[in-house]
Amino acid sequence: MIIGVPKEIKNNENRVAVTPAGVTEFRKHGHTVYVQAEAGKGSGFSDEQYTEAGAVILHTIEEVYAIAEMIIKVKEPIASEYGLIKENQLLFTYFHFASSEPLTHAMIERKAVCLAYETVEKTDRSLPLLVPMSEVAGRMAIQEGAKYLEKPMGGFGILLGGVAGVKPANVLVLGGGIVGTQAAKMAAGLGANVTIVDISLPRLRYLEDIMPANVDTVMSNEYNIRELIKSTNLIIGGVLIPGAKAPSLITRDMLKLMKPGTVMVDVAIDQGGCFETSKATTHEDPIYEVDGVVHYCVANMPGAVPYTSTLALTNATLPYALLLANNGWKSACSTNEELRKGLNVVNGKVVFKGVSDAWNLPYTDVKDVFQ
Ligand SMILES: NC(=O)c1ccc[n+]([C@@H]2O[C@H](COP(=O)([O-])OP(=O)(O)OC[C@H]3O[C@@H](n4cnc5c(N)ncnc54)[C@H](O)[C@@H]3O)[C@@H](O)[C@H]2O)c1
Repeated sequence: MIIGVPKEIKNNENRVAVTPAGVTEFRKHGHTVYVQAEAGKGSGFSDEQYTEAGAVILHTIEEVYAIAEMIIKVKEPIASEYGLIKENQLLFTYFHFASSEPLTHAMIERKAVCLAYETVEKTDRSLPLLVPMSEVAGRMAIQEGAKYLEKPMGGFGILLGGVAGVKPANVLVLGGGIVGTQAAKMAAGLGANVTIVDISLPRLRYLEDIMPANVDTVMSNEYNIRELIKSTNLIIGGVLIPGAKAPSLITRDMLKLMKPGTVMVDVAIDQGGCFETSKATTHEDPIYEVDGVVHYCVANMPGAVPYTSTLALTNATLPYALLLANNGWKSACSTNEELRKGLNVVNGKVVFKGVSDAWNLPYTDVKDVFQ
């Protein structure tokens, strides 16, 4: 198969979808890999390293899209890329369709085959291509939160761990999944008082067992969240309903209950965000304030630590990308249920329920696209 790896052009996105090690694997299986010049630069991989691994370097993004049967990316295509996408071209990347109506319509119009990293799902319902980025974002959320809690950054001016004789900060983590668990571990490690809320009782039981003593678990409901936010300094939003828009757990009126200088990090912003007042921001301009509450809503948090993120992501994506390249998407998806769940939009049809529901579009059963 002919594989194309464009350079990411979203603001401050420095990750790359295939490393030189990945190129070597594709080459071993007889595939041809075209990589856009400098695609790996931000993650520390030079064009020479790609060439040595057997890739062909192309100078423009147009050339990469024009030649490739499968495009492997990191973030969803942005508007300037829509016109480059060809009918039947396989796109394997993060899409997050449920949070972008224009992207959904553009991909329907281009009649591409859109396989979304974020909905590839294992039989135990875990999301193997979200996990590594969630691990990075969850850990980073505490680093960022701690920074913006500093007074000169607009925060309350509290140190997460406190010091002898001074109480530590209170951290509330919404959602005890991958993001929430990693965030809670980091915050607890720094000495904060941490509370995790989730709607899953089995998950809360598990967390209660494995977390250190400075982490509490509480059932997620509006009443409990309203009570908790009164004494919270840092809130991390890490809820997920797979393939659907995140629920607004912190509504605008709740901001009045919080202390001025409270910091909220909405990691779930890539699914629309779990605070009513969230709007996506970038690494260049990551925060804004509403009613005295600092909001950090960067949609591609792992992009700021591209070395760690690229290696973590490609460790997880490469086995699936090889399956697609070796068998073609139809055969790979009809025999592999995990990959099949990644299909979102195929040749103009929406085949993922969460996406058709989000934008009120007709839904086609995924089995119908294999004929
Ligand atoms: N901004 C970024 O750069 C970035 C990076 C990675 C992941 N993310 C996003 O972070 C979010 C969380 O990802 P994850 O991997 O931790 O997901 P996950 O599925 O592991 O965890 C989500 C958790 O949310 C819980 N949940 C669902 N509804 C809830 C509610 N009403 N109240 C409390 N908890 C609720 C679920 O029970 C689950 O435990 C996703 O939207 C993901 O796309 C963003």
